[in-house]
Amino acid sequence: MEVITAPEAVQRRCLALRAAKRRIGLVPTMGFLHEGHLALIRAARAAADATVVSLFVNPTQFGPGEDFECYPRDPDRDLALCREAGVDVVFQPRAGDLYAPDHSVYVEETRLSRGLCGASRPGHFRGVLTIVTKLFHLTVPDVAVFGRKDAQQARLVRQLVRDLDMPVRILVAPIVREPDGLALSSRNRYLSRTERAWAPSICRALREAQSRWAAGVRDAEELRAGVTAALSGGPGADIEYVAIVDEETFEPVARIARPAMLAVAVKLPSARLIDNVTLGG
Ligand code: PAJ
Repeated sequence: MEVITAPEAVQRRCLALRAAKRRIGLVPTMGFLHEGHLALIRAARAAADATVVSLFVNPTQFGPGEDFECYPRDPDRDLALCREAGVDVVFQPRAGDLYAPDHSVYVEETRLSRGLCGASRPGHFRGVLTIVTKLFHLTVPDVAVFGRKDAQQARLVRQLVRDLDMPVRILVAPIVREPDGLALSSRNRYLSRTERAWAPSICRALREAQSRWAAGVRDAEELRAGVTAALSGGPGADIEYVAIVDEETFEPVARIARPAMLAVAVKLPSARLIDNVTLGG
């Protein structure tokens, strides 16, 4: 496994791989890897000949007052996990290597990014789409794999490659969960013991709504109300949103007639948690 820190070097290496007709599969991450990331790596290995993983805590997607400085980091463990997982190239830029001090170009989506996490984290998706575009240019992937855990991010990346004609196939892998249902996240390590004990309520509430949908409930408000009630009373839980949106347009729906996504963001005192399930589709 090669570990490359310089952006020019990773681009040279990846262009050489392409010239040698190896299909590149990219998995962008912010490190502190867990089983969810490893599932994406396996999907990339299955879909391509050379797997590239990026480990970079991207400053432009964090808002003021968010956790950029204290975002969990463990580069040595990440490298060991990548090696074990059969990754070919790890791109691990040093902070400051990827953005010139006077950088001034960003990539911004103007419609799908307005709601859900885009509403509560202004500028977040601009930072994500900018770094993803840069990573695509640096690693020239044939395929890039994203997780359904961040469903809006994955949807926006699909829009990015379509609207800007990027020759990259986007794969979206299912959410990997703890045995009690909690979606894996690098931020779960922030949770206090009480918060961790309560956290699976999110997944339980989503699954309960999914069963009600399966039993024929199609009124979005009714399903949302059930989830909101189930999540109220958490340990300082501040519900940021409980939303039912169309899978494609990400517009809120009143009656579920086409595949929809039920998505939740909850702010606990120590961490913000997001999760989602599909309703149909
Ligand atoms: P990060 O949070 O490290 O996640 C990297 C990838 O892993 C994302 O595509 C995310 O959706 C996926 N992932 C995280 N938890 C998952 C889980 N429990 N199951 C399945 N997939 C999961 O998302 C980012 O980093 C950044 O925004 C990034 C795209 C790297 C840009 O900086």
